[in-house]
Amino acid sequence: MRKYNVAVVGATGAVGEEIFRIFEEIDFPYNKIVPMASERSAGSTIDFDGHALVIKELTETIFDEEEIEIALFSAGGSISAKYAPFAAKAGAVVIDNTSHFRMDADVPLVVPEVNPSEIHEWKTTGIIANPNCSTIQMVQVLKPLDEAFDLLRVDVSTYQATSGGGKEAMAELVTQMQDFFQFKLDESEHKAFPHQIALNVIPQIDVFTENGYTKEEMKMVNETIKILGKKVEVSATCVRVPTLRGHAEALTLTFDADVDAAEAREILAKAPNIIVVDNPALNEYPMPASCVDQNETFVGRIRNDLYRKNVLHLWVVADNLRVGAATNAVRIAQKWVEMQEK
Ligand code: A2P
Repeated sequence: MRKYNVAVVGATGAVGEEIFRIFEEIDFPYNKIVPMASERSAGSTIDFDGHALVIKELTETIFDEEEIEIALFSAGGSISAKYAPFAAKAGAVVIDNTSHFRMDADVPLVVPEVNPSEIHEWKTTGIIANPNCSTIQMVQVLKPLDEAFDLLRVDVSTYQATSGGGKEAMAELVTQMQDFFQFKLDESEHKAFPHQIALNVIPQIDVFTENGYTKEEMKMVNETIKILGKKVEVSATCVRVPTLRGHAEALTLTFDADVDAAEAREILAKAPNIIVVDNPALNEYPMPASCVDQNETFVGRIRNDLYRKNVLHLWVVADNLRVGAATNAVRIAQKWVEMQEK
């Protein structure tokens, strides 16, 4: 099998670090992996598989210089906007974790368990977009249920961890908790979130749009339709909660057909990269604390609606840095490599 030169852009960030952990765990055909970040980090090293890799400064020419063939971007939307085209021009496939290119008609938006064949479209722009973290874990669950019962509508409320806002956002929660124990939470600063996040929940992620929904909520709406390739109705309420890792979602799904919770449980148990944890008698259900570092999406609390036979309720949890970002990006890279081999 051919081996590839890989770049990880945003190597020092919350998602970038996770990409390196995953490359340590799996057997990926790489020739070299080049960490890239800002000039602040350039020259310092990161530990990877027992070696110290030197971080390179992200520049317009670095992808040519390093002969990069696969570039995984997780350094923020404006960085992707500026540098992903240079990576693509250098001949690399860009797998972009930011929202910047997601809704471009020419850019495939891929969750490998749901729409892997879209990866074939990468050549048009050289870019494949990784969906929003909350969208990824949700569509993994929606796809097999849609195939079985014909999905019409999704009502979702999210409980999203601070790591979705990057390392500084996680640090803000930790600092505020420390301040709380020193009786000075009132004086604690907030920059990453619009309000204090410690001992609080914030029903706003990203900025509000004109229709009263936030950008995060509209990402879940638009991305779900693009990935499923189907005009389902989606209504989202996205909420930031004071956890570090793991996004949870309460889903209410309306189908064209009648749906049975036991049948849905069986279908989900067979679906790729989904683990059903649903044992109320033993108080067993998925939680953020038990999904950290896992590459699967966990589903529980699967139950019929009390009133309507075509409505199902369930609870979905996944590690947002892994399933919602790094794992999905690496799985896209693996599929892309498979396609090159054919
Ligand atoms: P750096 O550590 O050099 O600032 P997070 O999502 O956890 O906040 O991480 C953001 C990532 O994006 C970090 O790896 C950060 O690198 C990287 N980054 C931020 N600004 C730039 C930039 N101008 N050029 C390259 N990488 C950047």
